[in-house]
Amino acid sequence: MPDFNRRLLPLLGHSGGSRDAMTCLYRCGNACDHPVPNESANPYLGDVVNAEMSRRGVVRAGAVGAMVLGFGGSALAAAGPAAAAPAAPVEAARHGGRAGRLTFETVAPNTLDQVTIPAGYQSSVVIRWGDPVEPGAPAFDVDKQTAAAQSKQFGYNNDFVGVIPIPGDRDRALLVVNHEYTNEDLMFRGFTTMDALTVEQLKIAIAAHGLSVVEIERVGRTGRWKPAKSRRLRWNRRITALATEFELTGPVAGSALVKTAADPSGRIVIGTLNNCAGGVTPWGTVLSGEENFNQYLVGGDAVAADVKPKLNRYGISTTARYPSGSRKWDRAQERFDLALHPNEANRFGWVVEVDPFDPEGRPRKHTAMGRFKHEGANVIVARNGRVVAYMGDDERFDYLYKFVSDKKYIDSDSPWARRHNLTLLESGTLYVAKVTGDSDPAEIDGTGKPPADGKFDGRGEWIKLVSGNTSYVPGMTAIDVLTFTRLAGDAVGATKMDRPEDVQPSPRTGKIYAAMTNNTNRGVGTNAKPDEANPRNANKHGHIFEITEDRGDHTGATFTWQLPIVCGDPAAADTYFGGYDKTAVSPISCPDNVAFDSAGNLWISTDGNALGSNDGLFATPVEGRERGRLRQFLTVPKGAETCGPFITSDDRSVFVAVQHPGEITGASVDKPASVWPDGDFAKPGVVVTWRKDGGPVGS
Ligand code: FEO
Ligand code: CA
Ligand code: CA
Ligand code: CA
Repeated sequence: MPDFNRRLLPLLGHSGGSRDAMTCLYRCGNACDHPVPNESANPYLGDVVNAEMSRRGVVRAGAVGAMVLGFGGSALAAAGPAAAAPAAPVEAARHGGRAGRLTFETVAPNTLDQVTIPAGYQSSVVIRWGDPVEPGAPAFDVDKQTAAAQSKQFGYNNDFVGVIPIPGDRDRALLVVNHEYTNEDLMFRGFTTMDALTVEQLKIAIAAHGLSVVEIERVGRTGRWKPAKSRRLRWNRRITALATEFELTGPVAGSALVKTAADPSGRIVIGTLNNCAGGVTPWGTVLSGEENFNQYLVGGDAVAADVKPKLNRYGISTTARYPSGSRKWDRAQERFDLALHPNEANRFGWVVEVDPFDPEGRPRKHTAMGRFKHEGANVIVARNGRVVAYMGDDERFDYLYKFVSDKKYIDSDSPWARRHNLTLLESGTLYVAKVTGDSDPAEIDGTGKPPADGKFDGRGEWIKLVSGNTSYVPGMTAIDVLTFTRLAGDAVGATKMDRPEDVQPSPRTGKIYAAMTNNTNRGVGTNAKPDEANPRNANKHGHIFEITEDRGDHTGATFTWQLPIVCGDPAAADTYFGGYDKTAVSPISCPDNVAFDSAGNLWISTDGNALGSNDGLFATPVEGRERGRLRQFLTVPKGAETCGPFITSDDRSVFVAVQHPGEITGASVDKPASVWPDGDFAKPGVVVTWRKDGGPVGS
């Protein structure tokens, strides 16, 4: 279909769940309409016996490491970008005896075109698409937009949100935000087809991808934050897919698989694509996942026959030059044409690390952490000092991973310690998860009915894939394993999960929480059957997967797991809320991003609510008597998903990203389905919510 009309595509065979067809098109290139990329014959969980799980030596029990950067916790003066280090990690719990208590007034499901928050709270827009970021950015004008302007302005479709304190100042911080994808229907007045876009418009869209770093300041003594105005803004930066140079690190850097005509060194990549969730590291950088990068590449039909299976496993079409939903960016930059530059595909799909305190530096893509459709990465420091990153590959029937660094974290504000910590993710060991249930597989009937022991739970193993330049996957080199990590996971029989999205350790308990957003293909046709870890056929509401590392050791090879929340309508028999009274919880559907407040409460944002309400943000204790008492904290406007979220370490502010407001088929700049936030047409933006009385949010 060489001249596909992107705009009509949603009407032609969309088969996804509850997401609007327009979101399916722009977000992930209609992934749900394409064959499941994982065609491996991995055993499903019920086939795997516990006896397979090896115990690989006794490792000292791990401790929960530094995770939360404090506001105003350091006396360090920021002498300049190189000397600037974040405040010392970890703040003590501030809730005392109230730890875990969530008392906010529940927000009811709704379809309003607004951000709805609990009584007693206020919210405001921090920044929106088109607002100035870099000095000299012109005022936003939707009718006079240029790529040069967009390259200095806040990008489109914000997803990950991180707030990193500026050392020594509790009232200033750097807001770091991902710009996952663009929706040209809603960006360009009079949009008709992708083919009708000018090259300049394509470049605007490419520049609207990437990240933004924005200095923000507290308003008065409140939990409200706004962009800093009266300062030099030395850290403000747009990182774009159009022009920003990234450096590849780790074993794949410089290898033949990543060399291109424009980069014969195989070390410098232009741009980052489809950055979804992410995490803030203890050393004050941001990790970001390159997710659905497949949709930006064309010409996969013309690559060598032996390359095609590798493209297919990543959802890149090898049958059409312009697959359905193609953005045809090759019209703006030739490198996106795989027929000419087949290795360009191998230069995306990595975890990206951005040092917001180094505005001139190249962000890095860490090849040691593997290549897949990275949702994000969140780091915890193990008791032995190594850092461990937990990661999900967001595709139906794909896998959970963790990375353990070779080197150890140095808990110090000093510049040399920070320089050391910046290298931690460049070398280490990559593992993939294989899980087993503890109940008879025959008891998992796909309805969501719990097995006889009353719980979806079991054990798991982290299977070592690669360590440095040593591969543990037969027939694959270390470089192969890192570049084609999905194939390595297939080869070792990793467990097919229901779309692993954000994965994050609790800073309180060290337990790890992973959002399985949904998988309407589970148990359908020849696809993998339900298992105890993914227990529902045609899983349209998703669930939360909780991992407890054996002996609390994040660097170890074995764990236990359970499902604390099986999402959906609490009145439905197939839902579970930690055993809590289901008449006292909120309906939740399609969990996507997770976060924690300092008391250890789990906050969950949703994408694609299949229960008829707008998406929202929810919070629940995960320990004690109120485990599973999940309630809705806010909802976002029509057509939007709720991203971020980020709770500041002082618990005074909750940030969320309102992504793709008004993304409803048929909407346009002139006929918007949402007019949030300014009353004219829809603009993605970041919102902060705080308690009017200044108290800790949630409680
Ligand atoms: Fe970009 Fe997995 O959501
Ligand atoms: Ca069980
Ligand atoms: Ca996501
Ligand atoms: Ca998160």
